[in-house]
Amino acid sequence: MKLIPVGVLGAGKYVPDRILTNKELETMVDTNDEWIVSRTGIKERRIAADHQATSDLCLEAAQIALTNAGITADQLDLIIVATVTPDMPFPSTACILQEKMGAKKAAAFDLSAACSGFIYGLANASNFIATGTYQYALVIGADCLSRITDYTDRNTCILFGDGAGAVVIGAVPEGRGFRSFELGADGTGGPLLKLEGGGSRNPASPATLDSRLHYIYMAGAEVFKFAVRIMGNAADEALRKAGMEKEDIDLLIPHQANIRIIQSSLSKLHLNEDKCMINLDKYGNMSAASIPVALAEAAEQGRVKEGDKLVLVGFGGGLTWGASVLVW
Ligand code: UT7
Repeated sequence: MKLIPVGVLGAGKYVPDRILTNKELETMVDTNDEWIVSRTGIKERRIAADHQATSDLCLEAAQIALTNAGITADQLDLIIVATVTPDMPFPSTACILQEKMGAKKAAAFDLSAACSGFIYGLANASNFIATGTYQYALVIGADCLSRITDYTDRNTCILFGDGAGAVVIGAVPEGRGFRSFELGADGTGGPLLKLEGGGSRNPASPATLDSRLHYIYMAGAEVFKFAVRIMGNAADEALRKAGMEKEDIDLLIPHQANIRIIQSSLSKLHLNEDKCMINLDKYGNMSAASIPVALAEAAEQGRVKEGDKLVLVGFGGGLTWGASVLVW
């Protein structure tokens, strides 16, 4: 069977207006701007308004992606929303979004792979298009991490922000589009990064609230070590599968968790910072939204041109990781 080349037809991003600065965090927990900037690279992050849930962020990003792709919602065959902060356990955020957009013929589901979710979503959706099952898919990475962040825990609350990034994918000319995907998981690392409350193991109760189980728990230093190892390895593997070398990379689009993790990936890939999209100073870590927001922003800023070779790479809870080589 001959596979159809699949690529990005249009991208879009949305971040809420409200800015939470390091200075403001100094009034909430025992921290300071100098520590946060030097240990993470983050200066500020965006926080969703009370009336906004993940699907609202998705809608804003999706509308821009559709416009940039030159198609309308009713042409979509598939919607995948990668998120760990769905509007509610069910219906899926993708179904809620489908209704808001009027994407009547689209199949829709959510995907849970934490910060790697957008790349997992791209890999899934691109297979449907490569095989001719579907023509157009909307893949979104979106999270409202502020809703599951403990603002009394200085180890985590300084890191996270809210946002959504969306792409429409479809057939592209031969030689362009996604050239490889590398996905992985290591469930033994699950306890390092988790939210235990509210699921079937620990249904929501006064006791789960008292134990703060509805907030993110993270063993930061262990996750850091895993990230430093896996980012370079995953990118290398995606390049190998695409038949490309490190020197071929025009732009690296990494998960925006910590500037020190990004710098270590750059040194492993022998790349300078000017070949890397970095926006965590403005948005912090937005989980599944980080990579697609960075991709949409790179496109907006004219940092990618036709034929450029991009490497997307991320890691996250699960533990999971994902990388992809994309010819723009
Ligand atoms: O999306 C994927 C999920 N997450 C990540 O990628 C996060 C990966 N991990 C990290 O980015 C880093 O581990 C952190 C930024 C979370 C922490 O940085 P670190 O350099 O690993 O610091 P640490 O946890 O080893 O803590 C060093 C010190 C500790 O004090 P003592 O024990 O040495 O006295 C912490 O209590 O820094 C202290 N500390 C803080 N101080 C000021 C921890 N958080 C803060 C803070 N402000 N916000």
